[in-house]
Amino acid sequence: MCGIVGYIGESEAAPILLEGLSKLEYRGYDSAGIAVYNGTAIEMIKSRGRLKVLNELTHGGASLPGRAGIGHTRWATHGSPSDSNAHPHFNGDNSIVVVHNGIIENYLKLKKKLEAKGYEFVSETDTEVIAHLLDYYYDGNPLEAIAKIMYRVEGSYALGIMFEDHPREVYAVRKDSPLIVGKSEKGNFIASDVPAILKYTRDVYFMENEEIVCLNKEDVTFYNIDEEVLVKTPVTIEWDIAAAEKGGYEFFMLKEMYEQPKAVSDTLMPRLKNGDIVIEELQMTEEEIRDIRKIYLVACGSAYHTAVTAKYVFEGLARVPVEVDLASEFRYRNPIFEPGTLVIIISQSGETADSLAALREAQKHGCKVLGIVNVVGSSIAREADTVMYTWAGPEIAVATTKAYSTQLIVHYLLALKFAKVRGKVNDIKFREMIEDLKRLPEQIELLLANKEKIQRFANRYLAAEHVFFIGRGIDYAISLEGSLKLKEISYIHSEAYAAGELKHGTISLIEDGTLVTAVLTQDHLFKKTISNVVEVKTRGAFVLAVAHAGNAEIEKTADYVIYLPKTNEYFTNSLAVIPLQLFAYYVSLGKGLDVDKPRNLAKSVTVE
Ligand code: BG6
Repeated sequence: MCGIVGYIGESEAAPILLEGLSKLEYRGYDSAGIAVYNGTAIEMIKSRGRLKVLNELTHGGASLPGRAGIGHTRWATHGSPSDSNAHPHFNGDNSIVVVHNGIIENYLKLKKKLEAKGYEFVSETDTEVIAHLLDYYYDGNPLEAIAKIMYRVEGSYALGIMFEDHPREVYAVRKDSPLIVGKSEKGNFIASDVPAILKYTRDVYFMENEEIVCLNKEDVTFYNIDEEVLVKTPVTIEWDIAAAEKGGYEFFMLKEMYEQPKAVSDTLMPRLKNGDIVIEELQMTEEEIRDIRKIYLVACGSAYHTAVTAKYVFEGLARVPVEVDLASEFRYRNPIFEPGTLVIIISQSGETADSLAALREAQKHGCKVLGIVNVVGSSIAREADTVMYTWAGPEIAVATTKAYSTQLIVHYLLALKFAKVRGKVNDIKFREMIEDLKRLPEQIELLLANKEKIQRFANRYLAAEHVFFIGRGIDYAISLEGSLKLKEISYIHSEAYAAGELKHGTISLIEDGTLVTAVLTQDHLFKKTISNVVEVKTRGAFVLAVAHAGNAEIEKTADYVIYLPKTNEYFTNSLAVIPLQLFAYYVSLGKGLDVDKPRNLAKSVTVE
């Protein structure tokens, strides 16, 4: 997720582009750049680092005169943050310039074809392919060239484009990634989101998929992929800028929860090809996958909780022994590293000190380390032997939600891939599970629509002092995350327990009205967990149950039930965590707390 902006009009473009980008930094902030037509040519300045670096480099835009331009603030997906990978990207003779938000899924194939035709690439990005592809199809008609590349490019994109020989026009095109057009007396705009242009206009057009727009300083004209003119109606935006950055959500955490369907899809779909799981970045041969004798899953916080779930999935599906470790323990407990050991480090930020040290400890003992990371170019991403990115986009709220959900998806993909290569799952089962994975985004969407019901329930527990979460198997792993979410942002003491373990001590804490959240998504453990629910009920607990639709038997025991759509038992964590995130969010909101920046916590702990 990056931020793009464009302007053409009566005013100097560069200051407007920089101002717009500053309002889009929540979409990505590892590098930035702008390109402006200065009357004779397109000039570009771009750099690694936060926007303020670009601001200094361009002296607030003053060193790039001109009244038409495009700009970009980056969240790296392909190619680490660097000056050459920063956007915009030129074609060979700097006559076409492009900014892009999204992922070009077939960029490697297109790149090979263009290189075979003599095109030279200066960056590692998927985006540069667009600049050269436009060049290849360009014969003086921008619209035609844009339409031609749309037929050949796969993936998601919002593009801002300028052609040197059409200096009084800025073009843009959208497919899947958001793009808006703003119209004002003083000029016209394109942007990834409303905050970038709200200072200048409230008259906005929302671009639909496969629509193209041509801006000049007086007007905006929309086209479809067949270059036919489209008539569109602008809407007037009422939001203030702060609200707009959160997309109208009160807190980034809620916004990021609602971004989970897309984040899960963005992380899953590029790795599903022709009914198979293709993980190009894994760089392991089938033989190497068959030779894995043991996996260590190592992480901190919520990332560690995905590892607890992943142990059940890897061992259950691929029959590979898995040990799960807290990174702060792993780095000092002198683990045993035998040949055939794969170490997987999971981290949203890629900068967590304990996880980074665990990585180095494993490498010191000659182990292959796979990093599962959300921030491209982060330390763990750079130092791991191979890295699989979770394409959740930037996560601003301290308590993780969408990055957590995408980490689960990567675990499922790896475990299912290993199971197939190791002959532990047959083709029918494999295809069924792929279909289950594909259904997760819409099922998560369904659960998010349940928020009012959960808010009403949460408001009854604003004064709770102690809350317990219980479950068996993967449900225990879900309980760990549900409990941590509540603790992180509501400051209520909460504990998660393997349901069968409660009676060996902790049940002494259950008294009248104690809230116990029971997670029961594993059919083969359902009855066992029901008996544990009965145990706490008889001690006066109030039980909130999270169960699959169709398991109505739980109604007889629990006081309140949230039902989940059906999915494969190994994937239930992705659904059951949604109501638990919402519960924690609404308790924190109800207590009037700063949901996004809870006390005593940081988004990434880079010290020991
Ligand atoms: C904490 C964050 O500081 O670190 C948690 O508040 C996170 O949300 C944990 O799960 C681990 O961070 P990371 O970036 O390594 O996944």
